[in-house]
Amino acid sequence: MSNADRNTGDKAGEALSNLLREERRFAPPPALAADANVKADAYDRAEADRLGFWAEQARRLDWAVEPQETLDWSTPPFAKWFADGKLNVAYNCVDRHVEAGHGDRVAIHFEGEPGDTRTLTYADLKREVSKAANALTSLGVEAGDRVAIYLPMIPEAVISMLACARIGAPHSVVFGGFSADAVSSRVTDNDARIVITADGGYRRGKPSALKPAIDEALTSCPDVRNVLVVRRTGGDVAWTEGRDIWWHDLVDAQSEEHEPQPFDAEHPLFILYTSGTTGKPKGILHTSGGYLTQASYTHHAVFDLKPETDVYWCTADIGWVTGHSYITYGPLSNGATQVMYEGTPDTPHQGRWWEIVAKYGVTILYTAPTAIRTCMKWGDDIPAKFDLSSLRILGSVGEPINPEAWIWYREHIGAGKTPIVDTWWQTETGAIMISPLPGVTSTKPGSAQRALPGISAKVVDDTATEVGNGGGGYLVLDQPWPSMLRTIWGDDQRFKDTYWSRFEDLYFAGDGAKKDDDGDIWLLGRVDDVMLVSGHNISTTEVESALVSHPKVAESAVVGATDATTGQAIVAFVILRGSASESAELVAELREHVGKVLGPIAKPKRILPVAELPKTRSGKIMRRLLRDVAENRTLGDVTTLTDSSVMDLISSQLPSAP
Ligand code: WT7
Repeated sequence: MSNADRNTGDKAGEALSNLLREERRFAPPPALAADANVKADAYDRAEADRLGFWAEQARRLDWAVEPQETLDWSTPPFAKWFADGKLNVAYNCVDRHVEAGHGDRVAIHFEGEPGDTRTLTYADLKREVSKAANALTSLGVEAGDRVAIYLPMIPEAVISMLACARIGAPHSVVFGGFSADAVSSRVTDNDARIVITADGGYRRGKPSALKPAIDEALTSCPDVRNVLVVRRTGGDVAWTEGRDIWWHDLVDAQSEEHEPQPFDAEHPLFILYTSGTTGKPKGILHTSGGYLTQASYTHHAVFDLKPETDVYWCTADIGWVTGHSYITYGPLSNGATQVMYEGTPDTPHQGRWWEIVAKYGVTILYTAPTAIRTCMKWGDDIPAKFDLSSLRILGSVGEPINPEAWIWYREHIGAGKTPIVDTWWQTETGAIMISPLPGVTSTKPGSAQRALPGISAKVVDDTATEVGNGGGGYLVLDQPWPSMLRTIWGDDQRFKDTYWSRFEDLYFAGDGAKKDDDGDIWLLGRVDDVMLVSGHNISTTEVESALVSHPKVAESAVVGATDATTGQAIVAFVILRGSASESAELVAELREHVGKVLGPIAKPKRILPVAELPKTRSGKIMRRLLRDVAENRTLGDVTTLTDSSVMDLISSQLPSAP
């Protein structure tokens, strides 16, 4: 707190490095460390021979033709990994576990929002995936054809992805919360001819229709031949004869036998669109062998998965890359038993997630900071009502986790003993890149810390020079990695321009980062989210963390609004915790608090208590929209919000700007 009395004119950069003075450290529990899947030596082995290390990890998979070549980087930035190898991704996620005698092991414990359940063993999954693969083939789908998937979080989502992988048809999953427009632009971009959807799913205690969005989207996608419809809610659906087919009519009638064909390691596995802040969505292309190698290895290493005993649960949606890599491909390639939950965390009550953890004895939980902060807001007493003692590892992904939320997660969910793995990666990286290892790393609240074995990440300044410990700049990846995106679908030039042109020969992730005195990495959010106040760079993440460290604040979103005097002024939107009520005194107290934690330069000019914040499907705050509000502008595009009414709510709550 030595920054309290500092003058505004003092070195703001120094004052703002307060976050890096986080001194709490949490060593791995000794028993976990002793029995960990990956130990400290992995870093050195990978450092000594990075390609040899990945060639070794590729042997986690069953190859129809073992690769001899590891990496072809002769035409950067277009990488080929394991290019002369052949494999079937679905075989690796399903059949081989059955062949190894684990057919009776549960693959998926499905929990529907209304409370209905389904259990699928690996043998069940093999039958279901085989039938679905035969069904797609009967619709004329061939290797290389794209299939769009627009489903709720039900087992058919995973089954559909694996059925596509099995026949070499790249899937393109579109998040079920997205609009008809989002569907049609994606289907048009990748020219999918088949769409898999459902009548609807359950959300917030009631059926929520999906098929109407497909019907609307397809009015502008004339090339789609068939729509395969899963019956989930039983609600009425409009039907286009000749085009629409019920899943239960077509799939259930298929043979349970299907011989998986091997495909080249570089055969496309999926296209997943990232919205980005500007321009049309980018179709991120991932291929087979390298992607599966890294998804599988990182899931094994970061979550320390013991397939015989662990029960794993990733709360992400399948429409997000986390759902691809850490629900479908990583866990299933490792033979995991996992929970899949359809609905929202507060239906029918705010303890639903913790009830599920207790019911299935979940041992590994992977979720996002936004969810953790929401649970904090609901109160400590809610998780306290449930037996969470099965948990042994907790993961976080999606945005920087504030130290306060990190500590709450460990204390109130992890009983003050579970390691927390804060995992940094992107849709583009395909798999986790920077994260602690639960049996090795002494963790620091708020830091993702260190690149995984086999991965190289650096923090550089404007001139691409690596910063020293204590320095800040841009996060880059200076060595290719197996699960890297191969291109943007149909647009190699945009791939080069977006990721490889800011710095020569370096992949620019778009994130700001700092290195602390130990050389550990702290992610500071997207570089577009850095504010410039009176000539000082201040990251939105730092101010948000400072606000959340106040006991009365549950969540906050900070933006830089154009200001005549200071260039940009800091405007903070805050959600207050439980019983705290809004008052001028509280706002003044919060401003003082930020001043104390970060230095006076970082005191928000305005603090606006609100009931909700606008978030994307992956839980990221849409600061762009808040900036519109803060600058009294008409709102920009709200189509990727999970709930677009949030912006109306915020606007109606706010006083007009001074
Ligand atoms: C962006 C990627 C990878 C799946 C999640 C979203 C931010 C992600 C962290 C983290 C700080 C993080 C970055 C990144 N991000 N994880 N642990 N700490 N920031 O994938 O939608 O492609 O977003 O999410 O800004 O660039 P995505």
